[in-house]
Amino acid sequence: MSHHSETQPAERRHPQAHHSGAHHFEPYRFKGRKVLITGGGSGIGQATVARVLAEGGTVVAADIAEAGLEETRARAAEAGTAERLSTVTLDISDEESVRESVGGALERLGGLDVLVNAAGILDSRHTETMTLEFWNRIIGVNLTGTFLVTRQALPALLATGKGVIVNFSSTSASFAHPYMAAYAATKGGIQSFTHAIAAEYGKRGLRAVCVAPGSIDSGMTRDPGLPEDADLGLLRKLTPALGKGFAGPETVAGAIAMLASDDGAFITGTELRIDGGTHM
Ligand SMILES: NC(=O)c1ccc[n+]([C@@H]2O[C@H](COP(=O)([O-])OP(=O)(O)OC[C@H]3O[C@@H](n4cnc5c(N)ncnc54)[C@H](O)[C@@H]3O)[C@@H](O)[C@H]2O)c1
Repeated sequence: MSHHSETQPAERRHPQAHHSGAHHFEPYRFKGRKVLITGGGSGIGQATVARVLAEGGTVVAADIAEAGLEETRARAAEAGTAERLSTVTLDISDEESVRESVGGALERLGGLDVLVNAAGILDSRHTETMTLEFWNRIIGVNLTGTFLVTRQALPALLATGKGVIVNFSSTSASFAHPYMAAYAATKGGIQSFTHAIAAEYGKRGLRAVCVAPGSIDSGMTRDPGLPEDADLGLLRKLTPALGKGFAGPETVAGAIAMLASDDGAFITGTELRIDGGTHM
């Protein structure tokens, strides 16, 4: 009797299985990878730029605020990674701006492996007096902006056969964000959008995931724009279960690096909560 079947390579016994690199540790997970990060001029986006550069990636940081991008470039210069960083200003809510800025950046990069859609805005109002203009502004940046940048980047991401999109949901998609109904709606919408594109393009190797941060110290959480008469008791749940208060943006950047690298190779169509346990 032949033992032929036992000596076959694993791929032939299990044609669906992917075992490549299972025991291979790669400290520079983004070496040779091209990464576009929106919101790269502040907070979590900026921390993600630094992390991906430190792990060997080539990064385009995009933001509406040139001052923030200047700071991002200065940090890269200090870390000795500036030669792999370029920056571009854009307004993610503006179709023409996205077409020009993202289109141009992808041309210069010569492709794209990872898109991180971190740009976003937070503002708060009582819902009963929320104007349509206010609502449309938040939806236009967070939800429509995520769509516009994703659409512009998709052809390049699909061309690699293993592109990754990391989108930004939030604890607000699930709980405890009074006065932030518009913002919360965008973050729930972004989760659904992410599930849909993960299903639509999975067969072409694209992975799409969300991070759902909460209680992270950033430009946004320092000034959430709460109404003067806000009932702060309603926000108590946003105190992290893990003792020390709000965490730094680098905690989210580390999780993004995991999800966007080959360490996340079997993760798609889902979200990771990074909130110090506020959801419990
Ligand atoms: N900080 C938190 O606790 C928290 C929690 C949940 C989700 N998030 C999400 O994390 C992401 C990053 O936010 P952050 O906390 O680092 O805040 P942040 O304010 O520090 O950074 C947001 C960045 O997006 C940029 N931006 C805003 N509007 C833009 C536009 N129209 N076009 C291009 N860039 C634009 C800003 O200039 C800024 O640099 C956001 O999507 C936010 O909703 C943050």
